Formats: sequence, C-alpha cells, structure tokens
Amino acid sequence: MDSPTSTLQLTSRSGQVAPVIQNRKKVYIETYGCQMNLADTETALGILTRDNFEITDSIHLADLILVNTCSIRENAEQRIYGRLGEFKRAKREKPGLLVGVMGCMAERLRTRLMSEEAKGVGQIVDIIVGPDEYRKLPSLVSRAWHGEKGIAVRLSRVETYDDITPLRTQDISAWISIMRGCDKFCSFCVVPYTRGRERSRDSDTIIKEVETLVSRGFKEVTLLGQNVNSYHHNGCDFSDLLARVAAVDRTMRVRFTTSHPQDMSDKLIDTIASHENVCKFIHLPVQSGSDKILRLMERSYTIDHYLGLVERIRRAIPHVSLSTDIIAGFPTETEEDHRQTMDVLKAVRYDGAFMFKYSPRENTPSYSMVDDVSDPVKTQRVSEIIDVQNKISYEKNSALVGETVQILVEGRSKKASAESQGRTDGNKMVIFPRDNSVSGEYRDVLIHRVNSATLFGTILSSSESVERAA
Ligand code: 5AD
Ligand code: SF4
Repeated sequence: MDSPTSTLQLTSRSGQVAPVIQNRKKVYIETYGCQMNLADTETALGILTRDNFEITDSIHLADLILVNTCSIRENAEQRIYGRLGEFKRAKREKPGLLVGVMGCMAERLRTRLMSEEAKGVGQIVDIIVGPDEYRKLPSLVSRAWHGEKGIAVRLSRVETYDDITPLRTQDISAWISIMRGCDKFCSFCVVPYTRGRERSRDSDTIIKEVETLVSRGFKEVTLLGQNVNSYHHNGCDFSDLLARVAAVDRTMRVRFTTSHPQDMSDKLIDTIASHENVCKFIHLPVQSGSDKILRLMERSYTIDHYLGLVERIRRAIPHVSLSTDIIAGFPTETEEDHRQTMDVLKAVRYDGAFMFKYSPRENTPSYSMVDDVSDPVKTQRVSEIIDVQNKISYEKNSALVGETVQILVEGRSKKASAESQGRTDGNKMVIFPRDNSVSGEYRDVLIHRVNSATLFGTILSSSESVERAA
C-alpha cells in the first residue's frame, strides 16, 4: 500500500508537541492527492480544533478517523478503498470509533460510499463531507456519535473559508488557498465536478494571513488554486496579488501553483521576473504535445502557443525552472501524437514532470469517448516519457555539480536522520549532512553529486560563501 500524501506531524520545529487536553475527542487524518487537499486538511482541522477536538498521529488513540480523498485517477480511488478497508479492524477494536470521508471522493461518490456495494467499505463510513461543506464537520460528527450517519456534499459558489484559521503543523512553509474550484472543464478532469465552480478569496484576507505567518516566523508561502492565473477579486488579478504578497516581507519566498497556459499573461511573467522573492519556478501543465489531442482535451491552446509562452518566460526569467504534467494514452492518441509529446519534452527541457496514464473518469466529457489505447500501450508510452524526462532532469541537475546553490533549510531529511534537506528557489530538493544549520535559514550549498530528482552537497560556512561568490 502506498503511503498517503500526508499524515500529521505533531512535533514543531522547536520540538514542542501539540498540547493534550483531557476529555477532548481525538481526530486522526490522512490526506491523499494534491496540495489543495493538504491545505483543506489544515482548514478542516482548524474547524475541528476550534470545536474542542485535538489531533493525534495514532489511529489507536483516535475517536474519529478522517480520510481526505482524491478522485483524479481510478488508482487514487482504489488506494483509498484499500485504506478504508483497513480501518474495519480499527472499528472492531474500538466500538464507537467514527470514520469520515472528505474531499473529492466524498463529492463524487456521495451515498454510494455508504451503500452495500461500496467495495466492502459501506458499513465503515459514518460521515461523508464534500470540499465545500467542512464547516458542517462538528455537527456531522456530533450526530454520528449519536448513531446518525451524515452526508454533506453541496457545492458552493461562494465558500472560500477565508475566516477560518488553518491548523498548520509545519512552521517554515505554508500553503495558502487563494481560490477554489475550476471553470476550465478540461475534458478528462473530474475536478470541476468535485470541487465546483471557480471562486477567488478576498485579497485582503490573504494579505492578513501572510502577515500573520511572517510574524510567526514562516519563511515560505505557496499560493494555491487549481488555476491561480485566473484569480480575481475586486479588480485585483493574480499578478497584483502576487506583488502584494511579495511585498509583505522581502525575505519570504513566494511560490504558486498551478498555472494554466491559456491565462499566463505577460503582466504575470513580468511580476515574477521583477520580484526577487517570488520563486523562479513555474508549473505549467502541457498534458500533450499533439494539437489534435489538446483539442480533444479541451485545453484551449496549441503547441505553438505553448512553446511561444515558454520562450517568453525564458526570455524574461532566464534561470526559471519549469515543470509540467503529461497524460499518456488519451483516447485516439496515436504513436505520432505520442512522439509529438516526447518532442515537446525535448524542446522545453523541463526540470521535472508528473506523468500519468489516462484514466477515464465517470461524467467527464472524455468518458463518453472510447478508451481505445490499451493499458499495455499506455504503460509503454508513459514509461518512454518518464525515461526521456528523467534523462533531461539528470542532465539539468548535473550542470549544477561544482556550483553553489542557495537553499531554504527545511530540517531533517525524510529518508536519513544524519542528513538535512532544503530546497532551491527553483524547487530542487537538496540533501546535505546535518550540521548546525537551523530550519528556516537561507544557506549556500556546494553541490557534489546529483540524480534526476535530488541534489547532494555540503553547506558552506559564511566565509566560504563569500569566497566562492568573489
Ligand atoms: N487521467 C490521467 N491524468 C489526469 N489528470 C487529471 N485528470 C486525469 C485523468 N482523468 C492529471 C493532469 C492534471 C494532473 C493534476 O492530473 O495531468 O494536470
Ligand atoms: Fe482539471 Fe483542467 Fe481545471 Fe486543471 S485546469 S483542475 S486539469 S479542469
């Protein structure tokens, strides 16, 4: 079983552990899927802890297990069904334990998740709550404790949770949700149906949140939305918002994701270029290199437009890092379409990519198209794409061997306790032997070796940094 995107980390940078208060009910939460879900988990926890819950990172101590779910591809849902099945035992061992399903699967499958045919998990799920209904969590839980299973899945045109303080368990880097939903309706994508219509959050509340994070010592914020480029609120567009956020504290890094190639304006490119603390990293999903497939995907741009955009970005921001998403095996994709996708990878030379096999999603427009690329062919194509991209990522990373890069120190490496990790402005992970560097510091690292995903090096002392810069 794959691990979830996140379970809770209750220990803070200073080593403090979240306080345990007697008689509070304990909630354990697992999060699957995208960064929006990670941010939503923090919102849901903000709501629950205001209502006398405390969080636990142990299933055995929990009174309530929540799973924040993802529906983007069939295999994401299968993993979650598997996980829900595992909670059966926890429920047997602890009568009264509640299990709730949040997020996109809750929205998409609704009562089906509680019904008998729900792959053996029907009796397990007590609460189903969609992405726009998290305010109802306390009342749903309280009713479920009295034996009444609950479901809340209405989508909203206005909910942005802008008055809710998310419960953040990290203390250097924060996600800030600036908009919800998506109006793009790409033909393969379930998001507009599970997360609803696009709506932007009040820019003043976003700025206030950033100010609070700065005062708490955070060093990085990532502005989140399914398509941040179409943010707009009372005449403030995404470029304006980005400039305002960057001005709050010039020593704080500002990131954002995701960008749709159709809405990436010159104004936005200039704003990224002209603010030193806006990271020079853009995630710009292309999805396919074939105009025919892009049309069927309803992506609303051509490859010429996309490549022209990349050229403009590179001209304005010479050291920019770019990443992308690719779908292999969309209906009617031929070997020639596939070759065109590989050509785009070779032409753009992305720093990284997320690469997927096409997965038909019920109720999306492409679901009615014949899924005519066989699974072995999808597998073959996606592995060819991964090979090409890994080679490019490795070559790009190799160019950094012997160079000094600046990182924001994040703390201990997740893989080895004798090592620490940090990220470059271009979002590359850097691993180095643990020393006395402090999480949240900017430090220079000399890179010694790389692989396609990670850089390895040693931290330079301040005098070594000055020497190398001279
Ligand atoms: N099949 C495969 N990949 C998908 N994505 C979205 N929907 C599907 C699907 N039905 C991918 C896209 C998107 C990323 C978040 O997930 O590449 O950019
Ligand atoms: Fe899905 Fe397209 Fe919206 Fe992204 S832009 S969330 S791929 S519909």
